[in-house]
Amino acid sequence: MKTRTLGKDFTVSAVGLGCMGMSHGYGQPKDVREMTELLAKAVDAGYTFFDTAEVYGTADDPHANETLLGQALKPFRNRIQIGTKFGIHFDMTSPEPNKPIVPDARPDLIRKSVEASLQRLQTDHIDIYYQHRQDPKVPVEDVAAVMADLMQEGKILHWGLSEVDADTLRRAHAVCPVTAVQNRYSMMARWYEKMFPVLEELQVGLVAFSPMANGFLTARYDANSQFDPDTDYRRNMPQFQADAMEENKALLQWIQDLAASKQATPAQLSLAWMLSKKPWIVPIPGTTNPGRLLENGGAADIELTADEVRKIDEALDKIQMSSVFGGSVVRG
Ligand SMILES: NC(=O)c1ccc[n+]([C@@H]2O[C@H](COP(=O)([O-])OP(=O)(O)OC[C@H]3O[C@@H](n4cnc5c(N)ncnc54)[C@H](OP(=O)(O)O)[C@@H]3O)[C@@H](O)[C@H]2O)c1
Repeated sequence: MKTRTLGKDFTVSAVGLGCMGMSHGYGQPKDVREMTELLAKAVDAGYTFFDTAEVYGTADDPHANETLLGQALKPFRNRIQIGTKFGIHFDMTSPEPNKPIVPDARPDLIRKSVEASLQRLQTDHIDIYYQHRQDPKVPVEDVAAVMADLMQEGKILHWGLSEVDADTLRRAHAVCPVTAVQNRYSMMARWYEKMFPVLEELQVGLVAFSPMANGFLTARYDANSQFDPDTDYRRNMPQFQADAMEENKALLQWIQDLAASKQATPAQLSLAWMLSKKPWIVPIPGTTNPGRLLENGGAADIELTADEVRKIDEALDKIQMSSVFGGSVVRG
């Protein structure tokens, strides 16, 4: 697979693999043996960039995803990059599948988190360490100072922030240079495009999460799709509700037609669109399926011209679409 550079010197596969859904958020955790095979297949297919977080797991096994990646990626550790995240936990008293997020970025807690993540990931360094959400009680400058120390100690090589705005990024970057932000970005969620000039100015990359609007833009789901009420976030996501399916009919038809015109699938088109926008955008689509893994990786080979991208943007500005999931509630 082609590679891309985030920040000044962090080279990763042009498409990364989002690993959350293997253990968290999209129904019951998947079979560990199957996911281990999938991760090996990903490496074989040229994926080098793997995304996880300390909180991707279940009530019984809250860090299951890091544990899975640590074991499965160990044979390939010297030729892949792992990104993980710190600084939040879930409010487990909530009955919702997508539990409210409680940010906590106290420096002593970050230090405990990094040691535990290193242990679960079976490694001596994390390639990129993201603050998962801002903590209103801890200035980002204090978090950045901890990151600088962790880099000095060789425990992390790069750092980033997730769901961050331009001002916070500037403040963080001034203390310890940021390599990438990890923000929600898809054809249905384009609000961070306004940050592109700042990212360009600071030479900070964008790792685009939920790049297919939580899978919705693959055109695979319809009003009959079933989501586990206890463990599947999509159950409550606006784009997957029955009335939204109706509202999004034209959007899904448009993306299917456009994909067909490029001999691509809707998933590939979603990814190719953002890859073609900027050389410093790296989407991390999530999948637990070997065929879809190869399909999504194939997006790295589809190039759209600047004119094609502009026309897609113009169409997206006009097409009727429902609201889209913007993230779980954060309790400050
Ligand atoms: N920083 C943050 O706060 C944050 C938040 C959310 C997610 N993330 C990261 O971003 C990654 C990706 O986001 P996401 O998983 O939420 O959304 P996504 O990548 O937009 O969509 C993933 C969903 O789409 C399905 N899918 C994937 N490829 C497909 C294809 N080619 N055709 C049909 N269906 C396909 C997957 O199902 P199958 O498994 O059945 O293929 C999965 O349910 C996560 O894994 C996680 O690492 C970060």
